[in-house]
Amino acid sequence: MRATPVLRDLVRETRLHAEDLVLPLFVEAAPQDPSGRTPIASMPGVDRLSISAAVQEAGEAHALGLPAVVLFGIPEHKDAEGTGAYDDEGVVQLATRAIKDAHPDLLVMTDVCLCEYTDHGHCGLLRGEGTEGSVDNDSSVELLARAAVSQARAGADVVAPSDMMDGRVGAIRAALDEDGFTDTPIVAYSAKFASAFYGPFREAADSTPAFGDRRAYQMDPANGDEAVREALLDVQEGADVVLVKPALAYLDVIRRVKDATNVPVAAYNVSGEYAMVKAAAAAGALDERAAVLETLTSIRRAGADIVITYHAKDAAGWL
Ligand code: PBG
Repeated sequence: MRATPVLRDLVRETRLHAEDLVLPLFVEAAPQDPSGRTPIASMPGVDRLSISAAVQEAGEAHALGLPAVVLFGIPEHKDAEGTGAYDDEGVVQLATRAIKDAHPDLLVMTDVCLCEYTDHGHCGLLRGEGTEGSVDNDSSVELLARAAVSQARAGADVVAPSDMMDGRVGAIRAALDEDGFTDTPIVAYSAKFASAFYGPFREAADSTPAFGDRRAYQMDPANGDEAVREALLDVQEGADVVLVKPALAYLDVIRRVKDATNVPVAAYNVSGEYAMVKAAAAAGALDERAAVLETLTSIRRAGADIVITYHAKDAAGWL
């Protein structure tokens, strides 16, 4: 059954389509480059975008057949409370309005987190000054819910909390419902691991924690049972899609979450995974196109219905 391309097609178990892929966009409030595009050194091909550049990029993504983008914001000013995250005139809110105006059929997902907006770089509010592991869960959840509502008001089709605080999915669901956004789905980053593979993203979003690390709220890479538990809790709280992140070192977790839940599963092929492929391809060590398509197919085979990836535009073009 492998002898010819037609036979191989006939028995192929996993298919990859542009419709399965979501493109992340970094939108900056104060563009550093007059062109509206600031290159990210460790992620060749990915730029920080002004709002108008983001509208253009979203249009290209849509034209290539991608169904959705997910927006990350880089505010002009960061502060201890991450106020830019829940400001109705914040960078993600403005970008959402602009993209929805220009491309109403493209889904806009918004990242719900504080780390891009806090001056200390942590994903929630700090309890004391500068003590490790001191993110205060419950007060952070309140602000995350405010951010989600503010994004929905701006026109976000889907909100995607990536902070890993306990109880935030339920709180976001309740806050959205109370504000009339009963139909806005939640893609929950349910199993987000404390990973070395977020390095380039933190350069892009300027969100490296000023002290300590995220191990007090993101998951221990050693734990699979806990990932399933987290996913089931998020479904109970009202998550419409559960997400595993990163993807490649966690393909087993994707499969376990897929088998244990009956909601769609998303996987995030993160910045470090992208950077590795780009660096190896630039060094002539591998064929980029073949490596990317194999990787994305593997993430789908593991059980992901949706793949968030910086390769989305390239992959859509190749497919
Ligand atoms: C946090 C967030 C991170 C990523 C997405 N959302 C970074 C982190 O937890 O440090 C990483 C995505 C990537 O590496 O591509 N809001």
